[in-house]
Amino acid sequence: MKFNGSVKIIERKQLQQDVFQIKVERPSMIEEILPGQFFNIVASNTGYPLLRRPISVSGYSADIIEFTVKVLGTGTQALSEYEVGETIVLMGPLGNGFEQKVEKRVLLVGGGIGIAPIKGLLEQLAPQAVSSDVILGFRDEPYLVEMFSAHASSLTLVSEYDASYRLGYVTQPFIEHIEANAYDMIYACGPEAMLKTLAGICNSRKLPIQLLMEEKMACGIGACLVCTCKVKQGDFGFKHVRMCKEGPMFYGSEVIFDAD
Ligand SMILES: Cc1cc2nc3c(=O)[nH]c(=O)nc-3n(C[C@H](O)[C@H](O)[C@H](O)COP(=O)(O)OP(=O)(O)OC[C@H]3O[C@@H](n4cnc5c(N)ncnc54)[C@H](O)[C@@H]3O)c2cc1C
Ligand code: FES
Repeated sequence: MKFNGSVKIIERKQLQQDVFQIKVERPSMIEEILPGQFFNIVASNTGYPLLRRPISVSGYSADIIEFTVKVLGTGTQALSEYEVGETIVLMGPLGNGFEQKVEKRVLLVGGGIGIAPIKGLLEQLAPQAVSSDVILGFRDEPYLVEMFSAHASSLTLVSEYDASYRLGYVTQPFIEHIEANAYDMIYACGPEAMLKTLAGICNSRKLPIQLLMEEKMACGIGACLVCTCKVKQGDFGFKHVRMCKEGPMFYGSEVIFDAD
């Protein structure tokens, strides 16, 4: 059931200079949350900025919901200023989230702050008999490594600049993983260029990949059409979908990327 109201912040951690994590009390009326779903959060209690910001769940249990946020602009900066004990207004869970089927072996790929929903998915897969290989790409120093190491069957850390990790982008280890293993499903979230590359690789090999897409949003519930974009329909056609309602998860085989 969708919740729209205030919740109390019970924990706040600074993970990096511009990345923080908050845990809020989970309202009892929220019966189910799926990895890959998001909440539309009021960024500050001053009334500015007006529009809520969509933030994925990066973890949840019966009592808490966790968000991991990178400060980019006005809204996420305002969100970063909430303190433990304050209340925050949010609506959700929203969107379709990742589709989980019966799987034995999966590959999870996160890039930048896209690791947040991947963390939520990995934690939900951990108690199941699923082997989860994880590849995470960072610009500099990785974060949340302990949590990923604790739950992943294998963890590959890639950094664009820090030579203590594998240097470069996630693409090369991704190709190595899919050539060495048979995956029932691949899940990815990260910058659009990364998702486009991974989708291209998977589509050419007919491998299933679920992508969490990002689009500017306003209402978050399918009413304002701000987040409308095109996805493939049949062999040659396309249809319009609302990223917040029919997405944000789409299969790599259906996404039409901007420069396509
Ligand atoms: C479904 C969904 C889930 C998300 N989950 C997370 C998450 O878990 N953690 C996290 O840190 N961020 C997440 N984001 C992105 C987050 O909502 C944006 O960073 C935020 O909207 C930017 O807001 P801002 O007020 O900080 O920046 P603004 O001041 O509004 O803008 C800063 C920059 O970000 C761009 N921008 C604005 N809105 C978006 C947007 N929706 N997507 C991409 N760029 C945008 C602007 O063009 C500008 O360049 C998610 C976005 C979506 C759509
Ligand atoms: S944000 Fe309003 S329809 Fe998607």
